[in-house]
Amino acid sequence: MQQTKILLDENEIPTHWYNVVADMPNPPAPPLGPDGQPVGPDALAAIFPEALIEQEVSAERWIPIPDEVRQAYTLWRPSPLFRAHRLEQVLGTPARIYYKYEGVSPAGSHKPNTAVAQAWYNRQAGIRRLTTETGAGQWGSSLALAGQMFGLDVRVYMVKVSYEQKPFRRSMMHTWGAEVLPSPSDQTEAGRKILAEHPDSPGSLGIAISEAVEEAASRDDTNYSLGSVLNHVLLHQTVIGQEAKKQFEKIGDYPDVVYAPCGGGSNFGGVAFPFFADKAAGREVRLVAVEPSSCPTLTKGRYTYDYGDAIGMTPLLLMYTLGHDFMPPGIHAGGLRYHGDSALVSQLYHEGLIEARAVPQLATFEAGVQFARAEGIIPAPESNHAIRAVIDDALACKETGEPKVLFFNLSGHGHFDMAAYDKYFAGELEDYEYPEAAIEEALAHLPKVAAPA
Ligand SMILES: Cc1ncc(COP(=O)(O)O)c(C=O)c1O
Repeated sequence: MQQTKILLDENEIPTHWYNVVADMPNPPAPPLGPDGQPVGPDALAAIFPEALIEQEVSAERWIPIPDEVRQAYTLWRPSPLFRAHRLEQVLGTPARIYYKYEGVSPAGSHKPNTAVAQAWYNRQAGIRRLTTETGAGQWGSSLALAGQMFGLDVRVYMVKVSYEQKPFRRSMMHTWGAEVLPSPSDQTEAGRKILAEHPDSPGSLGIAISEAVEEAASRDDTNYSLGSVLNHVLLHQTVIGQEAKKQFEKIGDYPDVVYAPCGGGSNFGGVAFPFFADKAAGREVRLVAVEPSSCPTLTKGRYTYDYGDAIGMTPLLLMYTLGHDFMPPGIHAGGLRYHGDSALVSQLYHEGLIEARAVPQLATFEAGVQFARAEGIIPAPESNHAIRAVIDDALACKETGEPKVLFFNLSGHGHFDMAAYDKYFAGELEDYEYPEAAIEEALAHLPKVAAPA
């Protein structure tokens, strides 16, 4: 029998998170305040606990995972690594295709890897309530779960278009005891400002972040929790890549290319950074972030300082951005509708150490359906982006006869995204044109700080 799943024991769950900063050729650029001056860790203290701020600025290679967080991880970790024998067969490719499956978590994606860590550190710091944003609902449901596990109330601002497209994600959050509001809402200054200008706004991650940050900053008992983008979030996700490396070691194989869908970058960083450590040590491995062509942050954005939210409440981060008030089209991969990208991922891309690729919506669903019919698992629309890139490259291997090893992170299942699949089958899904005019306009509103060298 051919081996399909490569499994690890619970005692092989990583004991430390891996911090890529230790292996980057250049130190990360500091976040800036509105005056263009670097902000210190103190500026974050109103919304984050000290332990997470320390992780945000740390250059230590290894950061220990608290026992209670590792214990929470045992509910779904280690996650399986699959060899996609059946997909390889359908494609007729000589490539060996592998995927790490993060859909085995209770919320159905990689997001709980950081949610449980963030909830635990906040609880340790005496915080009773967390606010957050969610796009597709994957992050909101993960934080709702984590809040329930560690005794914190959670309020989720859910991007309105997803709130309407994915009612069962809302039900999941309610089941885990969280409160869910469509964003823009009338509960915050930020939401009211957007609604006054655009009463029919479908919302965006940037707007929902503004609302959640505003509320957390105005209440002592409440902190903010972010599901991607920030260094500590990417750090927590590195359990994915570390486990994958062990799994490859067990079968004596190693990827030529690692792919991940990329929204704010935590899923990409989580799977790719531990492989970057090998690359930094001289090993040949390509790392590819895959994004929607309608929200092409890395491939078409500008590398400059910008706000992390739509209103301009967060510190400025040096990143690839489409402009903080860019409103991405309402694609079904809600988790990829973000104007910016992680500063760490952006810097590595800027320095030519990782790659990025953009793919259109219809082609991603075509790939997801082909994958589901071969492998059984129905992927999240976000994950379909990586699958598209892998299938394209596996077909290229068929042309050249190269037996490359292609590995991707199957970041989540699509069980709550079936309305999107139905639309795809009914021919009602569309490819959005590259929104050039909207991006140009948003880029004209970038904050005025000195451009990086
Ligand atoms: C299933 C899934 N995959 C990938 C992503 C993108 O993750 P990130 O923002 O960490 O890049 C998301 C984000 O919500 C998601 O839900």
